[in-house]
Amino acid sequence: MGGSAPLRRALIALSMLLIGAEGLRQIAQGDGCSQPGMQCTIKNNSCLDFNWFRRYSWTPTAPSNMVVTTGIGQNELGRTVVRLHINWTVSVDASILELQGVEITVVERSTQVTRCIQYQFNNTFPSQRNPNGQPWQFYYNNFEVIPGHTYIVTVQHLPRQGGDNSKVQEFTVPWCDEGDMIQTDTCCDLGFCWFPNITIKHQEENLIVEFSSRWNAKEYGVQVKVRDSPDNTFIHVILQEGPPIQRVQVTFPHIGGHIDKECVYNISQLRF
Ligand SMILES: *[C@@H]1O[C@H](CO)[C@@H](O)[C@H](O)[C@H]1NC(C)=O
Ligand SMILES: *[C@@H]1O[C@H](CO)[C@@H](O)[C@H](O)[C@H]1NC(C)=O
Ligand SMILES: *[C@@H]1O[C@H](CO)[C@@H](O)[C@H](O)[C@H]1NC(C)=O
Ligand SMILES: *[C@@H]1O[C@H](CO)[C@@H](O)[C@H](O)[C@H]1NC(C)=O
Ligand SMILES: *[C@@H]1O[C@H](CO)[C@@H](O)[C@H](O)[C@H]1NC(C)=O
Repeated sequence: MGGSAPLRRALIALSMLLIGAEGLRQIAQGDGCSQPGMQCTIKNNSCLDFNWFRRYSWTPTAPSNMVVTTGIGQNELGRTVVRLHINWTVSVDASILELQGVEITVVERSTQVTRCIQYQFNNTFPSQRNPNGQPWQFYYNNFEVIPGHTYIVTVQHLPRQGGDNSKVQEFTVPWCDEGDMIQTDTCCDLGFCWFPNITIKHQEENLIVEFSSRWNAKEYGVQVKVRDSPDNTFIHVILQEGPPIQRVQVTFPHIGGHIDKECVYNISQLRF
């Protein structure tokens, strides 16, 4: 053996196909919507409640203010997820006497999946301000959402007034690389806590690529491209049942040589 062969660089791309996270859903938990002085009941899944399409002579005005943010919390299954926090304020005016309920609708823009709940007030508002002298404020934070997705949130006071007594806001949930999002199980489902720890070995003319699988993914693609060479090989791996996380070994024949790696990994979703 003479001097060492020149080092060649290879680009190793690893991809994973994931089922992805569930879309917009309502978390089945919560503490009702009553406040001192107001008895309120939550009615679930009631986007099409024809009672409210009747004509009423008197209708409440729109909420005076609405704030949509997100928070990280647990859903009823104990998973750490992203929730929409929807807060709104009732206008301080005499039309509060007509306010019988509120419909909160969220539409996921890319899929048009819609979820809706209603607050129904069992008594009329005793005064234009709450017992603390503040405008009445309500909130709902049981919609579970997906990072990076855009939602259209509508808070509609009931009875309706030709669509004029609602407030609408579009809100985009921060992506998994922002703030604390990475701590959610949802971002893990989207591949953000996969550390494949790629290693390579040479065995005669073969190049052996090893990586750690992810607990909920069974399909991977491994691609090796040697710099300055037109060769580009791709191997599709489908794991059989085994331990939740394992080292997976893929052999690329006849690539050999002294290859130094540069790794890229790429996560793809099959569907949301
Ligand atoms: C609506 O759902 C919440 C939690 O999702 C639950 O606590 C409540 O009992 C449900 N109400 C009705 C009327 O089904
Ligand atoms: C929304 O209302 C809740 C309950 O009153 C409050 O804790 C929270 O700080 C409010 N959020 C915003 C952004 O105003
Ligand atoms: C409040 O009103 C809702 C809807 O009108 C009704 O289903 C519920 O039984 C009422 N609750 C009480 C405590 O009266
Ligand atoms: C990566 O994998 C190699 C080979 O299995 C192992 O020796 C190393 O400790 C792993 N590194 C990390 C950070 O897990
Ligand atoms: C990531 O992998 C998927 C599936 O193997 C492929 O379709 C996509 O083009 C890759 N993206 C990049 C940026 O390499």
